Amino acid sequence: MKQQLEAIRAGALEAIAATTRSSDLEALRVKYLGKKGELTAVLKQMGKLSPEERPVMGQLANEVRAAVEKAVESQAALLAEKALADKLAAETIDVTIPGKEIELGHKHPMYTALDSFKEIFINMGFEIMDGPEVEQQDYNFTKLNTPDDHPAREWSDTFYLTEDSSILLRTQTSPMQIRAMETHGVPIRMISPGRVYRKDEVDATHSPMFHQIEGLVVDKGITMADLKGTLNAVIREIYGPATKTRFRPHHFPFTEPSCEVDIQCHKCGGKGCPTCKGEGWIEVLGAGMVHPKVLRNCGVDPDVYSGFAFGFGLERMAMGRYKISDLRLIFENDIRFLEQF
Ligand code: DAH
Repeated sequence: MKQQLEAIRAGALEAIAATTRSSDLEALRVKYLGKKGELTAVLKQMGKLSPEERPVMGQLANEVRAAVEKAVESQAALLAEKALADKLAAETIDVTIPGKEIELGHKHPMYTALDSFKEIFINMGFEIMDGPEVEQQDYNFTKLNTPDDHPAREWSDTFYLTEDSSILLRTQTSPMQIRAMETHGVPIRMISPGRVYRKDEVDATHSPMFHQIEGLVVDKGITMADLKGTLNAVIREIYGPATKTRFRPHHFPFTEPSCEVDIQCHKCGGKGCPTCKGEGWIEVLGAGMVHPKVLRNCGVDPDVYSGFAFGFGLERMAMGRYKISDLRLIFENDIRFLEQF
């Protein structure tokens, strides 16, 4: 038995020291120390020994077990260390290789134009309000004093979302005048930028989706002079301090009187050229004094309060500012175009 135990010790220690994988090591542990292992098999024969031999062999067996256990443990530590060293060697980073360049985009030119526009109005004490693109016909037309037979209400012009035409994609940001007065009350000074939708074919100046910026001022004693003063100041901020403006009579159902505002062509100075299509002037917005009926529709007494409203086209403004000749460029998201701004 002594020889058997010595043989197990010698064989085990040699095999363990030769392992290179932890799975092999585990197999050896089971082979020698496991319940059905070699050491256990020897110990089962202890019964056959004489009472004098038994404690001597028992002690030897314990020594062998301890030696094998220790060998397994230290070999396991060795293998773990080696595995880590291999991993570190495999994952070495070459710090001299140049890094990958991360290309950052930037704001779309139209939103840059919108930001500076907002800034001008915030500095004048206006609030910025946001409204729904899916709108009720009542807000888009009826409460804005737009008669049932108005051409803008045609199915051929407007994207209706329900058969009874009660819900639609807003055709203008003007319904925000109504929503603003209903939720905020008067006095009010606000602008509301956003998307609007019309059934237009795409060409150099049309798109079925574009952006407007609505404006509304209502307070006691607001007059056309406030409208002109405010809009002139804004236009000079946007287009330069020497910009000449022209207020032309026009018709909108929700303002009375109404006007369109032109700026004198910065290219030709008013003589007429391709930029202004020979007109000498470029239209930049619609505006007017809020119609008393619109005020009344929002529960505001037109004998006490008055106001003005206006609507800018955002694409047109961005096109003017960045000298963009075709509306489609704004929406196509061609990186070669966008990179220029
Ligand atoms: N909503 C008008 C349009 O889409 C633009 C407009 C004109 C807005 C006059 C106004 C305004 O607030 O007073 O053509």
